[in-house]
Amino acid sequence: MERIILDVDTGLDDAVALFLAAGLEEISIEAVIATAGNVGLDKTVENTLNVLETAGIRCPVYKGADKPLVRKPIEAGDFHGKTGLDGPVFAPRQFQQAQDKDGIEELIKLVKANPHQLSIVSVGPLTDLALAFEQDPSVARLCKQIIIMGGSFSRGNVTESAEFNTFADPEAAERVFSSGAKMVLFPLDCTRQVTLSRNRLSDFQTRKGLSNAVFCACMESYTANYTKRGQGEPQMHDPLCVAYLVDPSKVETEYCTVSVDIKEGPTYGKTTKVATISENGVLIAKRIDIPWFWTLVERALANLP
Ligand code: BDR
Ligand code: CA
Repeated sequence: MERIILDVDTGLDDAVALFLAAGLEEISIEAVIATAGNVGLDKTVENTLNVLETAGIRCPVYKGADKPLVRKPIEAGDFHGKTGLDGPVFAPRQFQQAQDKDGIEELIKLVKANPHQLSIVSVGPLTDLALAFEQDPSVARLCKQIIIMGGSFSRGNVTESAEFNTFADPEAAERVFSSGAKMVLFPLDCTRQVTLSRNRLSDFQTRKGLSNAVFCACMESYTANYTKRGQGEPQMHDPLCVAYLVDPSKVETEYCTVSVDIKEGPTYGKTTKVATISENGVLIAKRIDIPWFWTLVERALANLP
């Protein structure tokens, strides 16, 4: 059983990551931290609570950072809509509410109380983790592993060379990548290979359950946003990090050291890798077994209300 803390900026593909973690028997969600990213913090918190409530998950939800370490905040409304989760309409919540305690402090406490036991899944800007490591440098090495969606080693999706999560807080990403923590990175080069076809979405639409219906509503608007931007089928970035935890052997990887450009200019936020034979680097995902990934999504949704 993988015990995880999810750090999300919920987001349409973050929602799929939450459903996957919620619905798979192999994973136990210990806590969720919502951070600012795709939209502002108030909205990512609200979206996170709504998805977890839909999935029937009662884990604590904390607020993380409301802005990046250094740069001015940016958002990704073109992909996720004004609310960050355009599409589904949620009923008023019965049990999920944000905790008053600070998410970064809680992350530190949880990791220290469970040394080498908790995996962190970070699928938004890396601000919360950078702040946690700054407040308590021992935390980086006490995480079992950190699975991150971010970066690109070819072209970006916000600028020519930068991916959204690293571009949204390059200074935080640079600190986390050089922290010495055990990390697995899912860059765009891997995640953009996994897209949702119209046929597959139509198949999901024949299935039952509230979580499945919310998933389908999210994916309808995700599809429409990609189509509007002329970018083909929507890309399943964030849930791949959760899938990895179920069976790492389904992912082809290589060890690298990763750096982030933190100099303002056209390549701000760009990630660069240098292959290494040492296991001290960041393990970078290159390819994932795509049919297997979709069987996980189907199983998770079938397990949920
Ligand atoms: C990443 O950026 C966000 O918009 C998505 O949720 C994902 O985490 C992809 O670049
Ligand atoms: Ca995200």
